[in-house]
Amino acid sequence: MAKVKNVYICSECGYKTNKWIGKCDNCGEWGTLEEIEESVTSAGKGLKTSSKSLINLQEKVVSFESVMIEKDFRYKTTISEFDRILGGGLVKGEVILLTGNPGIGKSTLLLQVAQEYTGYGDILYISGEESPAQVKARGERLGIKSKNLYLMSETDIQGIYEYILLKKPKVVIVDSIQTLYNSEIDSIPGTPTQIRECTLKIIELAKKNEVSFFIVGHITKDGKVAGPKLLEHMVDAVFHFEGEEGLFYRILRSQKNRFGSTNELAVFSMEENGLQEVKNSSEFFLSERDEKNIGSMVVPVLEGTKVFLLEIQTLLTECTIGIPKRIVQGFDKNRIQILTAIAEKRMGLHLGMKDLFVNIPGGIGIKDPAGDLGALISIVSVFKNVEISQKIAAIGELGLRGEIRKVFFIDKRLRELEKLGFKGVYVPEANRKEIEKNKYKLKIIYLKNLEEFIERMSKDE
Ligand code: TYD
Ligand code: MG
Repeated sequence: MAKVKNVYICSECGYKTNKWIGKCDNCGEWGTLEEIEESVTSAGKGLKTSSKSLINLQEKVVSFESVMIEKDFRYKTTISEFDRILGGGLVKGEVILLTGNPGIGKSTLLLQVAQEYTGYGDILYISGEESPAQVKARGERLGIKSKNLYLMSETDIQGIYEYILLKKPKVVIVDSIQTLYNSEIDSIPGTPTQIRECTLKIIELAKKNEVSFFIVGHITKDGKVAGPKLLEHMVDAVFHFEGEEGLFYRILRSQKNRFGSTNELAVFSMEENGLQEVKNSSEFFLSERDEKNIGSMVVPVLEGTKVFLLEIQTLLTECTIGIPKRIVQGFDKNRIQILTAIAEKRMGLHLGMKDLFVNIPGGIGIKDPAGDLGALISIVSVFKNVEISQKIAAIGELGLRGEIRKVFFIDKRLRELEKLGFKGVYVPEANRKEIEKNKYKLKIIYLKNLEEFIERMSKDE
């Protein structure tokens, strides 16, 4: 026989305990434990399954081959970079969480895409933060005109639920999840419990009725999504919108995507009349560069599935007091330390008594190991005070023995360099076979190791 037992569950992390505690033992949050009833079988911990439930379970098991999948239908916009980040458009019934600092442009972006989806049917924009008049004012600035776009100023999830069930709009925008509440639950809007409950309702609506949702999520001062930690696991995709203060460009990143690849990024610029996609983002990050330069090198790096050309800038100064500084922005600091060690050992560069500064302008940063060779060349260039042509780029990962290792997606990287008028590129010898299968206008300089690079350097200047 089943009996009922009370347990306490943390609304932040899902931790379960038998007695109430003020602070969760697992995630350390205060006041997040909630009492719930849990039924236990009299058999205690036993996992006895009745024959009826076994029959039910058997029905849920199907052979791999018998499963049919519907051809992937996606809602598209005219903003190709946005569609690309989504994995080729918005999937029916998908729930996407969009996070970002206040004022970054979340509402602007979603209002623009809302208009784009109106070609497919009714689109509902729910704003708990602004009145329809305020949303309309923004929309006018963006030049939005559509009969299929509906605005709703509501925060009660029950009402929203009923309305969506009745009208079945194709896409719903919820701006923001922190303003919604469920009146059956005894806590104020914005608390982890409310956010979780409202998100669950949204997911239920989305999955059962094929309504797609964009949910705006605010982030806290330390950059986390305000709400339960589970929020990011509950939704299908998480996108983060960011930008440096005072700059007009914005970067949209996919941090999770069940219907596309993660770590994709797209660049937008915030203009007078809304956000504009920056299609040729490499050009964008490489502007304002001189013909020849000391300490600057371009590398084609992969972010998700797209290649971006980024510039690595290095500066060296004499260290006058204390321990030499290693100030690195946009590149892994440990990686730079490894590269300087390789430069000391394999190339005889005495960097020990110098302050080293490395910077990647543009705010994207390099995580791709193929950026190693470029970083090292830029360090060598400042150390030796030699100029490098800005029409030459470098691709390659470095090993501790100074060997230059093979990189993935070499063709994509070379094509991007060609497109932007580069003349030459250093590449790993290990990629030769793959490269020789195609024709490039670029001068390709193959390198096995750093010794070869030193030899070549004087010739290629
Ligand atoms: P908003 O979308 O309200 O940001 P969020 O929803 O993330 O808080 O964008 C606010 C900023 O964008 C605001 O500083 C004004 C600027 N903006 C433009 O520069 N151009 C525009 O066309 C619009 C609508 C906003
Ligand atoms: Mg907003």
